[in-house]
Amino acid sequence: MPHTFVIFGASGDLTSRKLIPALYNLHRKKRLPAETRVVGFSRTPYTHEAWRAELAESTAKFAGPEFDPAVWNAFAQQIYYCPGDIGHGEDFSKLKDELAKLEGNTPSTRVYYLSTAPRFYEPAIKHLGDHGLADESQGKRRLVIEKPFGTDLATAKQLNISLHNSFAEHQVYRIDHYLGKETVQNLLVLRFGNTIFEPIWNRNYIDHVQITVAEEVEVGKRAGYYDTAGVVRDMIQNHLLQLVMITAMEAPVRYAADPVRDEKVKVLLGMKPLTPERVQTDTVRGQYQGYLAHEGVAANSQTATFAAIKLWIDNWRWQGVPFYLRTGKAMSCRTTQIVIQFREPPHMLFTSSNRANAEANRLVVQVQPNEGMQLHFQTKVPDAGMKMRQTDLDFSYQREFKGSIPDSYQRLLLDALEGDASLFARADEVEAAWALCDPLLAAWNDPGLPKLLPYDPGHWGPLESSTWMEAQGRQWFDTCPVLR
Ligand code: BG6
Repeated sequence: MPHTFVIFGASGDLTSRKLIPALYNLHRKKRLPAETRVVGFSRTPYTHEAWRAELAESTAKFAGPEFDPAVWNAFAQQIYYCPGDIGHGEDFSKLKDELAKLEGNTPSTRVYYLSTAPRFYEPAIKHLGDHGLADESQGKRRLVIEKPFGTDLATAKQLNISLHNSFAEHQVYRIDHYLGKETVQNLLVLRFGNTIFEPIWNRNYIDHVQITVAEEVEVGKRAGYYDTAGVVRDMIQNHLLQLVMITAMEAPVRYAADPVRDEKVKVLLGMKPLTPERVQTDTVRGQYQGYLAHEGVAANSQTATFAAIKLWIDNWRWQGVPFYLRTGKAMSCRTTQIVIQFREPPHMLFTSSNRANAEANRLVVQVQPNEGMQLHFQTKVPDAGMKMRQTDLDFSYQREFKGSIPDSYQRLLLDALEGDASLFARADEVEAAWALCDPLLAAWNDPGLPKLLPYDPGHWGPLESSTWMEAQGRQWFDTCPVLR
């Protein structure tokens, strides 16, 4: 069946940086379903040719060395443009006619992609519904919606209601690009495609889990948006909680959208609520020095650019095992790591070379950059009695599989075209994530405690984040990418 990929917000940054390069690469690899066409919709008055010409330039830049002009030209023949304003219902009638003309009344699968500013989500959804564009009698109709999905629980619920007025839940694909990252999916394979990890993946063997998403960049041009969002809305409610869910979920009965998402949601439902008292003791928030100088940031902004949070999951597997989440801008380096810190052996027979640094086993899943894993374990130092020293075993994607790792949008766009929602968030999942974050946001606002701590760019956030960990007898794994 032919497929039509309709992009709302076609003249925007996400379209040129991510969506079109991903579709182009899928075309190049011959992964797109046969007869896939792309239709852009936005206010800029392009012709088909003008939009194609602009995309040729941006794709050459963002698709990297894989850009081949001849392949692009073939792909570009299937790209069309329909000017229109999301605020104007009549423009959706025009779009409907345009799509009917292109599809020639042949039943087609359509994916509508909302790549617009969030304030346009609701009008776009309503007009799509009102104009019969969500109706599935002439083929599947799917809607992909970008983050942020609401700004709190109430707005997320409202957005879900609006969506469900026009689309059924099975038609809705809430995207979180972290789920498209190879290493995140590999975590599922590591856990459920092997027998050796799962038996130790629980409170009996694991002391705690650390999930760090450190970014070296500052907020830059996005300062205006960022100042209204802050680190919890920008990173924790979505990307970090997705990483927690994949790390902590039980094995689904099948690898299919609902069984996978059922298990993910249970993780969130099992989380101890972040009461105001817990926010005081279990969170650290910071703002990097210099943040206030960005254009678009309020003069006395209290927006956090760094957060460290301790979460507990109340279930059999994880009782008593803290999950530490940490993320920030202007940190020492760009690294996303999931660290599984195992317990020390119950009885120490041997001494390590430096007992003060004796470390129990640790599995580091390096999500980015240089995707891979490293297992830390003790070994005997040769010719030194029974002295031990920590060493490691590496698995690097780059070394093992050669070739470049696809950008996460390739996997996710293909899944949306093919109707696999396993790597997309369900309505109850985003609401459960907000239900966890709402009290945190409220406590950080009023009375504004714990204190917003300053930190120097280029470090691991406020010093207090380390002392807070040490006070719990633990240490952050402050290592810039372990795999290089
Ligand atoms: C986005 C956030 O969702 O994710 C950005 O809005 C952040 O602030 C980005 O920089 C991080 O994504 P990645 O894939 O570069 O880790």
